[in-house]
Amino acid sequence: MFTGMTYVYLLSVLLLARITLQASSPTSTHYVGAVVEYHPVHNEDNATATVNQNKKNYMKFLQTASENEVDIIVFPEASLMGGLGSSENNRSPSLSAGSYIPDPKDAKVPCTDQSSNVNEVVKALSCAAKSFAMYVVVNLHEKEKCTGDKCPKDGHMLYNTNVAFDRTGTVVGRYRKWNLFGERGFNRTTKPELSYFRTDFNVTFGQFICFDILFDTPALSLVREKRITDILFSTYWFGELPYLTANEIQSGYSYANDVNFLGAGFNSPSTGSGGSGIYAGKDGVLGRIVSEKRTNAMIIANIPKIVNGRRVQSVNPNDAKIIVYSTSDIPTINGSEPVPQMAFKTDDMKPYTTKLFNPTNNTHNLTLCDREFCCHFQIRTEHREDLVKDSVKYYRYRLAVFNGVRSFGVGGTGGVEVCSIISCIDDKPTSCGQRFDTNTIIVHPTTFNSIIISSDYKISRNISRFPLSLNTEMNPFNVSDFTFISNKLNATHVNIKYTLTKPRKDLMTFAIYGRNFTSDGQPITTSSAAQFSPLYIMLIMLIALGITKTYGMSSM
Ligand SMILES: *[C@@H]1O[C@H](CO)[C@@H](O)[C@H](O)[C@H]1NC(C)=O
Ligand SMILES: *[C@@H]1O[C@H](CO)[C@@H](O)[C@H](O)[C@H]1NC(C)=O
Ligand SMILES: *[C@@H]1O[C@H](CO)[C@@H](O)[C@H](O)[C@H]1NC(C)=O
Ligand SMILES: *[C@@H]1O[C@H](CO)[C@@H](O)[C@H](O)[C@H]1NC(C)=O
Ligand SMILES: *[C@@H]1O[C@H](CO)[C@@H](O)[C@H](O)[C@H]1NC(C)=O
Ligand SMILES: *[C@@H]1O[C@H](CO)[C@@H](O)[C@H](O)[C@H]1NC(C)=O
Ligand SMILES: *[C@@H]1O[C@H](CO)[C@@H](O)[C@H](O)[C@H]1NC(C)=O
Ligand SMILES: *[C@@H]1O[C@H](CO)[C@@H](O)[C@H](O)[C@H]1NC(C)=O
Ligand SMILES: *[C@@H]1O[C@H](CO)[C@@H](O)[C@H](O)[C@H]1NC(C)=O
Ligand SMILES: *[C@@H]1O[C@H](CO)[C@@H](O)[C@H](O)[C@H]1NC(C)=O
Repeated sequence: MFTGMTYVYLLSVLLLARITLQASSPTSTHYVGAVVEYHPVHNEDNATATVNQNKKNYMKFLQTASENEVDIIVFPEASLMGGLGSSENNRSPSLSAGSYIPDPKDAKVPCTDQSSNVNEVVKALSCAAKSFAMYVVVNLHEKEKCTGDKCPKDGHMLYNTNVAFDRTGTVVGRYRKWNLFGERGFNRTTKPELSYFRTDFNVTFGQFICFDILFDTPALSLVREKRITDILFSTYWFGELPYLTANEIQSGYSYANDVNFLGAGFNSPSTGSGGSGIYAGKDGVLGRIVSEKRTNAMIIANIPKIVNGRRVQSVNPNDAKIIVYSTSDIPTINGSEPVPQMAFKTDDMKPYTTKLFNPTNNTHNLTLCDREFCCHFQIRTEHREDLVKDSVKYYRYRLAVFNGVRSFGVGGTGGVEVCSIISCIDDKPTSCGQRFDTNTIIVHPTTFNSIIISSDYKISRNISRFPLSLNTEMNPFNVSDFTFISNKLNATHVNIKYTLTKPRKDLMTFAIYGRNFTSDGQPITTSSAAQFSPLYIMLIMLIALGITKTYGMSSM
């Protein structure tokens, strides 16, 4: 009686019913979000082949997400293209593998609409969003035809773009990265664009990309001006110790702005890249990944909705699931690991004012200033000197304060204002922000029973402060282990107090990290605030004399 066709028909009706039943609705107290951590394929010689292979793997992630009734999924920056690609002088790989992307205003469905003028990959992604009935956010290289004399010679603008499809495959969001990290082959829009879209489960998402997280526009504009509570973030982050590893800044941003945050990271330990997470602001982390080795994984979580400034359901890490793919499921990880552990960069600590911390069994009250910016530390420690034998490895600690301008390398310069305790591998300040190999045995003689870092700050909208923390396993602390409280002192000043409330012996970083946008683009602060001290000048003079003397000698 039942023909094959009817069977298939019935099955698909059942499947559809299931999807419709399970999708979150405007009245649900949460939605299901997923982020992908992906180590992509990169074929140097053939951009199209690269994209096709990565697309195939994207379909596997989507399949898993669908089986877990995910409402919205975010893929990392650049991973579809296998890398950032495109140099200033050779944009052709990006132009050939990139695509036109319709304006969300036009509500095109590239899957079925020929007029949307996209390439095969974008079409396939639109069709996948439609067949899985899922919101899908993908980062890719977008090209746009350009006519007129201000256009690049190849006749195109090229953007680093996130595109969002809804459950019908319609393009509902398009964001072109504003704060490019070098990326000389790419263009920017003439003005920064704020990209946000509303979903059928009544959550409005804003999106931005990677380096954007350290700037006011669009990362803070979305939150402050548009009152966005849920952020989609794709990244290819180059992690840096002690302050700017991927998970540290993702946690810090989510906490400081108290937003739900879905961060998807490009996985490449040899460039210190990787680290994804789903965070629920001040209510805690739902799930996160940081891996010393190459990894393909996905985090899926029930994310509480925020209504009238409050999460309407409590945050439960048991509501999150981390799926790690085997190399046969996603065959992008071949051969042996290129690096033994994530190769983080290290911030240049030379311009910081630092002070070696002597961790005796005491409460230590200390104040340290850098260029008229002062931080107060109240630290209670216990130290097991008996563990420190001849050759054992253990972390030392320094208080580190900075008020100046730093270099972001190819990303330009930016204002930074930091109060921190950081770990170092020996007594020298230059060893801070380095770490011991993960396969060496280290002991933890110092327990921090509590830490209070505080400072008085001038109130300014042009500065954003993040509570950052990290343990030796590269994990930020749980929100139950610290408080971050701002108290208004008078019309112009606030006091911010960052407190570690639970004892830790694996501390790596504990910092109030401020980004001062006013001094962005200014020349970097090169040496420590002590540079003008008479001693320093004398030292320079002595060195100069020494050099003169050496020359004198060699000419003899
Ligand atoms: C959708 O969300 C908005 C903003 O939170 C709220 O005002 C509105 O009542 C919600 N609509 C429904 C149908 O729940
Ligand atoms: C690149 O890969 C595509 C798709 O896999 C293939 O059709 C094309 O011939 C390749 N191009 C070159 C130059 O090898
Ligand atoms: C676009 O980017 C290319 C490559 O960096 C550059 O040569 C060109 O001047 C840029 N054009 C515009 C209008 O920004
Ligand atoms: C790993 O091997 C597979 C199968 O040989 C190949 O398709 C893939 O491109 C390789 N991936 C990398 C990252 O080299
Ligand atoms: C400090 O406290 C630790 C643990 O309580 C103890 O083992 C150690 O002997 C103390 N050190 C001193 C110098 O009292
Ligand atoms: C440490 O500093 C705090 C606040 O600055 C102060 O209240 C406290 O009395 C000080 N404690 C000691 C032992 O000096
Ligand atoms: C956070 O809490 C979980 C559950 O209690 C624990 O397993 C994990 O180690 C904690 N993370 C850190 C960095 O302390
Ligand atoms: C506000 O408080 C700050 C920090 O204590 C202080 O430097 C400043 O003079 C105060 N301003 C006024 C108007 O009292
Ligand atoms: C805030 O910072 C921006 C740079 O992001 C700068 O253009 C602007 O002048 C600053 N505003 C103030 C009040 O300092
Ligand atoms: C930020 O940078 C500006 C310009 O360099 C400076 O005037 C200001 O004091 C800095 N700090 C704050 C809190 O704005």
